[in-house]
Amino acid sequence: MNDRFTLERRLPRDFFDATLRADVLQGLAEPPRTLPPKWFYDERGSRLFEEITRLPEYYPTRAEQEILTRRAPDIARATRARSLVELGSGSSRKTRLLLDALTAAGTLQRYTPLDVSDSALTEAGEALGRDYPALRISAVVTDFEHDLALTDEPGPRLVAFLGGTLGNLDTDGRTAFYGALRRTLSADDTLLLGADLVKDPAVLVAAYDDSQGVTAAFDKNVLNVLNRELDAGFDPDAFDHLAVWNTAEERIEMRLRSRAQQQVPVKALDLTLDLEAGEEIRTEISVKFRREGLTAELDAAGFTVRHWWTDAAGRFALLLAVPSR
Ligand code: AVJ
Repeated sequence: MNDRFTLERRLPRDFFDATLRADVLQGLAEPPRTLPPKWFYDERGSRLFEEITRLPEYYPTRAEQEILTRRAPDIARATRARSLVELGSGSSRKTRLLLDALTAAGTLQRYTPLDVSDSALTEAGEALGRDYPALRISAVVTDFEHDLALTDEPGPRLVAFLGGTLGNLDTDGRTAFYGALRRTLSADDTLLLGADLVKDPAVLVAAYDDSQGVTAAFDKNVLNVLNRELDAGFDPDAFDHLAVWNTAEERIEMRLRSRAQQQVPVKALDLTLDLEAGEEIRTEISVKFRREGLTAELDAAGFTVRHWWTDAAGRFALLLAVPSR
């Protein structure tokens, strides 16, 4: 690669194995059973997610793209960012809209993508390095939920957290995340946040339980991950995929429901799971937001929302917030 691209690996060598074991012991050993959504994304899971983003029922990706396309120049003008820091950058596809606008505005020097996937960062970094010859790309392999530390990025910095992944965090998780972010950001930095909005539950449920069964395959893929990584004995066909709208929490919950009473060995953990017929494993929460609530929780965390943009259909929001104190 060229000298404008650097990759810093901040995760310990055993990060994946140690975290997966801890997550399974903590979440799966007894009811109510849960798994964190980050384990969906092995190679097959990442491919299935890409497929999800193209499904007719899954609107968030297209809605966010629509807003970014229209508002990227406003974002560039409002932030005059010298660095773009992207949390959970993945393939960096939507990022190009921001990079184009910030390049056109003449302020951008640095792109710092943070992701747990070494390969995603390397692939994206190589492609972007070719297409943005004046840009320095400092990729960081890290889990931004635990490590947000930025280093020598020139300010003002624009920190982007796109895709609605904020919705994977519950109230406590979001409070911790905003706090860490607030401590990292300086007065002239800006936060760009993508958030899916509350809407007709039928639309939401369809987005997470599509007619082609791609989301069902994505959900069940986490069982394949456990089979491979922890020598577990899940039969994905012994589970049904469910997408449930939790009215009280205003979130979609993805669950895998055991079709029958069964025992599942997890050999690497010397564990056997006793599942009742109909017992559920919650595999993901995807919180949906309202303008008032999201603005208020950001305000409580020390951020003032300066801009709130939605797609024409009002399904998804992109907001710019600045430190308030
Ligand atoms: C990547 C977390 C934003 O919650 O909509 C898509 C993941 N899960 N379909 C979401 C997902 C099922 C997605 N995020």
